[in-house]
Amino acid sequence: MASDPFRIPRRLLLTTGGVALLISRPVGAAGHPHQGSGPPSPGAAPSAPPPSASPTPAPTPTPVPSPTPVPSPTPTPVPAPAPVPAPPPTPVREVSAGPMTAALTFDDGPSPRYTPQILALLRRFVDSATFFMIGANVEKYPDVARQVADEGHRLGNHTYSHPDLGKLSAARVRDEIQRTGDLIARATGTPPPTLFRAPGGYFTPASLAVCADLRLRPVSWSVDPQDWSNPGTDAIVRHVVAHTRTGSIVLEHDGCLTDRPIAPGGPADRSQTVAALAAYLPRLIDAGLHFATVAP
Ligand code: NI
Repeated sequence: MASDPFRIPRRLLLTTGGVALLISRPVGAAGHPHQGSGPPSPGAAPSAPPPSASPTPAPTPTPVPSPTPVPSPTPTPVPAPAPVPAPPPTPVREVSAGPMTAALTFDDGPSPRYTPQILALLRRFVDSATFFMIGANVEKYPDVARQVADEGHRLGNHTYSHPDLGKLSAARVRDEIQRTGDLIARATGTPPPTLFRAPGGYFTPASLAVCADLRLRPVSWSVDPQDWSNPGTDAIVRHVVAHTRTGSIVLEHDGCLTDRPIAPGGPADRSQTVAALAAYLPRLIDAGLHFATVAP
């Protein structure tokens, strides 16, 4: 018996078509292919509205945990560098006040005997000079210190008791300088001096540190006739005339730290200094030199 080779495949096709038909029907219109599709035909019973779909509650958003802030690393404090102390100032040995200009300086006063004599000579020949005063003498003779300032000269600090600074503690060096600055300020009614000269010119490290701290300018010299040793008026004159030139700082003395009476030729006798000044000032002026204070 011959079998129909297409029998089974045809049944399969039909079955497949049925499945295909079922699948092609719109969802919700089973049995009525066109119901609900398009406007209802006139006269047709209104179909019940489709039940409104209950609103699906919006899903509660799952809170996303905010990320735990990562603490920024605390910066390690960088220790501030220790302040570097300014290098100690270098004592000034010359002035820069212009061509043919030098500076006269007088140490160890004020003296009620000699300082007025020197002021009188300066009045005739020189506009201004610089006086490095001993605090103890300013304490004794404040009027003389004031007269020096009033006549337009500059005052400098020469310690209170003219000690050997190398033998003092740093605290005592500071006290010597500060005390003198205060005494000069009180005597003259002006701010404390900004110039300092160490006794004997021995600028110890401690004294230079105080200068840096108190903004004092250390001042040395370049011409030293050794008038303090009373070498003779002519010797003083010769030395000053031979060495004084543009920029020179001349060292002389108008006083001395002593309570003893002034003995002729003794350490407090400044008569040679006064006589020499009277002799060399006109000569230096005639030679074209000018004299100025040590600048700040
Ligand atoms: Ni001195």
